[in-house]
Amino acid sequence: SQREPFKIVISGAPASGKGTQCELIVQKYGLVHISTGDLLRAEVSSGTEIGNKAKEFMESGSLVPDDIVTAIVLSRISKPDVKVNGWLLDGYPRTSSQAKSLERNNIKPSIYLSLEVPDEVLIERCIGRRLDPVTGKIYHLKFFPPETEEISSRLITRLDDTEEKVKSRLETYKKNAESVLSTYMEILNKVDGNCSKDIVFEAIDSLLLKTLEDSGNQKNAV
Ligand code: AP5
Repeated sequence: SQREPFKIVISGAPASGKGTQCELIVQKYGLVHISTGDLLRAEVSSGTEIGNKAKEFMESGSLVPDDIVTAIVLSRISKPDVKVNGWLLDGYPRTSSQAKSLERNNIKPSIYLSLEVPDEVLIERCIGRRLDPVTGKIYHLKFFPPETEEISSRLITRLDDTEEKVKSRLETYKKNAESVLSTYMEILNKVDGNCSKDIVFEAIDSLLLKTLEDSGNQKNAV
């Protein structure tokens, strides 16, 4: 019988560690990482029509309109590599309308993870965050400083990572979180995201292994 590929949604407030944990999940499970934030930032930096529409919303820390983001997700999730390897959806759905779009298209995760981190920690994580434009790796000046001087000199700061914008992104997250979570009550797993990244990953990994066992899909793990 054919095995269903693994399908995961990871959610959480800004800087709760979604991108960081996704790097680790992909390494182990070989899923296709679909991050709406990353996809939108790529559109903005290549100056596409979508990017030009999304730019001002993103830079001000507000949500990009649902129809734009949903079109990006539906197009990526229907590609052949995703059908074969499964998907890890990061940063979507973020509104109840987005959750409804997934349901309407019969796109159902096997598990829904929500990273829980206190507000004050989120703000410190955002302000110290730096990105490596060459490898895409996520750093933090205090918690995960770059390994070499060369990497350090090319790191960039996201325009929406100022204290003021982080606070407004957090407000938006809180406004929408409950209605999105309520769609996924049956498969919702809250994870304490306020520990070291390896400890957070251990907790996620054991939930994923259990989900695979329950569905008899264990061979999917690499
Ligand atoms: P997006 O890129 O999704 O931003 P976000 O949800 O605000 O999440 P972040 O990327 O800020 O954080 P993260 O949880 O991935 O944390 P990270 O691992 O980097 O979206 C950006 C924008 O795009 C939105 O504002 C919106 O405009 C638009 N957009 C995206 N999706 C959309 C949608 N569905 N609808 C509408 N608009 C949409 O970690 C953060 C920092 O903490 C890093 O420095 C990291 O090194 C550090 N860190 C991570 N884990 C730990 C740990 N355990 N201990 C200590 N430090 C840690």
